[in-house]
Amino acid sequence: MSTHHTASAAQATAPATRIPQHRSYLMCRPEHFTVSYTINPWMEPAKPTDTAKALAQWQVLYDTYVALGHDVQLIDPVEGLPDMVYTANGGFVIDGVAYGAKFRFAERAPEGPAFMDWFRENGFEVVEPVEVNEGEGDFLLVGDTMLAGTGFRSTGDSHRELGDVFGKEVVSLTLIDPRFYHLDTAISVLDPVQGPGGVEKANIAYLPSAFDDASRGVLEDRFPDAILVADEDGAVFGLNSASDGLNVLISPRATGFETQLRERGYNPVLIDLSELLLGGGGIKCCTLELRHGQETTR
Ligand code: ARG
Repeated sequence: MSTHHTASAAQATAPATRIPQHRSYLMCRPEHFTVSYTINPWMEPAKPTDTAKALAQWQVLYDTYVALGHDVQLIDPVEGLPDMVYTANGGFVIDGVAYGAKFRFAERAPEGPAFMDWFRENGFEVVEPVEVNEGEGDFLLVGDTMLAGTGFRSTGDSHRELGDVFGKEVVSLTLIDPRFYHLDTAISVLDPVQGPGGVEKANIAYLPSAFDDASRGVLEDRFPDAILVADEDGAVFGLNSASDGLNVLISPRATGFETQLRERGYNPVLIDLSELLLGGGGIKCCTLELRHGQETTR
């Protein structure tokens, strides 16, 4: 009797079997990386940057994706656009359709058309944006729902435009801490949109203190099983991570988050992008997911 009890208790707490899903990503080598202007609280132009170090750290991220079996495409870096390495901001792509970015600040404005050209040249259907939005920096696909951030960069009007473009539900969330100015600095999508054998319940990790009360309420309602990440892990950009459903690439400084991921059956992979953090970006910022369409057939 007691043996039976122990067995079922163990079963209830055993980590789920996580299944990695093949991903396609767009990245940009930080050949022209530097910090020459300030558009977020992390950027201090007076602090020296080391482009060679940024390149070496970025290369580890690239090599890790390739080693995990993912497909990584590259967009050519443009001189004078030091933030182009943060490709997550270049657009938002679902089913072969790329909704282009329209950047909040003039310093990054030319990146919008550069990314749209790349999408067109590589077979994506491009929707030119009317509203200010910073792509996958503020838009995250979770299951069949699009979470959309506002407060610092993308506007509320862009959330409506996003819904019109993709015809999916949009959940608007308001960011309140200037250090976490993009949604991908405060939420990490952990599970695949669709795994083998059907739709898995998609889960997220998030930093509660980055959101206003109403948005926190929405997140609690929708994601009761979410991993709540501590402020100290958020402050080292722990949430700015990339998951394939099993392997979660995170900052080595986010040690609490690393433990939480292990407890849930994920495999944390530690990637140090300290140099790119000087520009206010991390792993996810350097990664744009290219959802071509064939892998999301229903
Ligand atoms: N310096 C860039 C900016 O402020 C960093 C962008 C980070 N990207 C991201 N997806 N969070 O726009």
